[in-house]
Amino acid sequence: MNRKEEIRILAVESSCDETGAAVVVNGRDVRSNLISSQIALHTIYGGVVPEIASRKHIEKINQVIAAALDEAGMTLDDIDAVGVTYGPGLVGALLVGVAEAKAISYAKKIPLIGVHHIEGHICANYIENPGLKPPFLCLVASGGHTHLVRVSGYGSYEILGRTLDDAAGEAFDKVARAIGLGYPGGPKIEKAARQGRPDAIPFPRAHVAGDAYNFSFSGMKSAVLNYLNSCQMKGITAVQEDVAASFQQAVIDVLTANVKRAFEETGVKQFAIAGGVASNTALRQAMKELCGQYQVAFYHPSPVLCTDNAAMIGAAAYYDYLAGRFAGLDLNAVPNLKLGER
Ligand code: KG4
Ligand code: ZN
Repeated sequence: MNRKEEIRILAVESSCDETGAAVVVNGRDVRSNLISSQIALHTIYGGVVPEIASRKHIEKINQVIAAALDEAGMTLDDIDAVGVTYGPGLVGALLVGVAEAKAISYAKKIPLIGVHHIEGHICANYIENPGLKPPFLCLVASGGHTHLVRVSGYGSYEILGRTLDDAAGEAFDKVARAIGLGYPGGPKIEKAARQGRPDAIPFPRAHVAGDAYNFSFSGMKSAVLNYLNSCQMKGITAVQEDVAASFQQAVIDVLTANVKRAFEETGVKQFAIAGGVASNTALRQAMKELCGQYQVAFYHPSPVLCTDNAAMIGAAAYYDYLAGRFAGLDLNAVPNLKLGER
């Protein structure tokens, strides 16, 4: 295969608490995908401390990139373009990746591609599903975002609905802290929920009025806090597993209700899930069943590609490469970058 047929992208991700580097060929063939996680470091503070995250990215980024190239059996001379997350995320953390990618682009005279983090999450679906092509509907549920997105083409997104308050992952994290499970909340709630009853406590399922596919999770989080307070006042010990299972079920019900409506009203034939919360087994199962009922093809990345990683950034960057959407060396971190904006 000559070089033109094989586009090799080095991808860098540093928007939050994972330092990631990957080599992705033609958008879907992941030759390496390395993640240096800072979870252990932030756990003692109960959440991500931005300043610590930035410092750790600086310490790790060169090693992670070197290891990703090494595992792919390549050097920077084999790379055709460098893709990097430039927003949304923590500004100091983003800047580390952006500065690194700009330096590589300048030194090696290869194109620089700025990738939207949420676009990366969506594109994670391309990696293990070679047959998946737009148009499709995607539910993105991460720590900072909950969006229902119509993907009408590569790099072309329309947000049908979004959370009006907390993101789904944020609700998982806050509830986990409240019931004493700590950070990171999602995986810990999922584990505790396996031992609990999803119908034990009837937490509210908020449906946002109007015809938008919007979500709201802060009421559900408050309901959990109220429940814990009332248990305390009555001298009852709340069963952690039941709270976890009932809360998780309430989140799943709200997410599936909007997706179901979108299936009925838009007639989509392909549906994907993305983002950290998409690694939740019970959510995946619920979405799979819903897709079965509506004869919609269901796609989801494997759990390691749902949470933050650089391979998904490499997948997204490839389609920008094909479209000639390159960034200049003035690329900056944009902490509140909107999907579809450049
Ligand atoms: O996409 P992601 O890795 O980072 C962001 O872009 O935010 O998502 C992280 C979020 C966290 O809120 C975390 O608690 C949640 O995803 N999460 C989960 C699970 N794994 C991670 N939520 C529910 N169940 C899980 N298994
Ligand atoms: Zn993310």
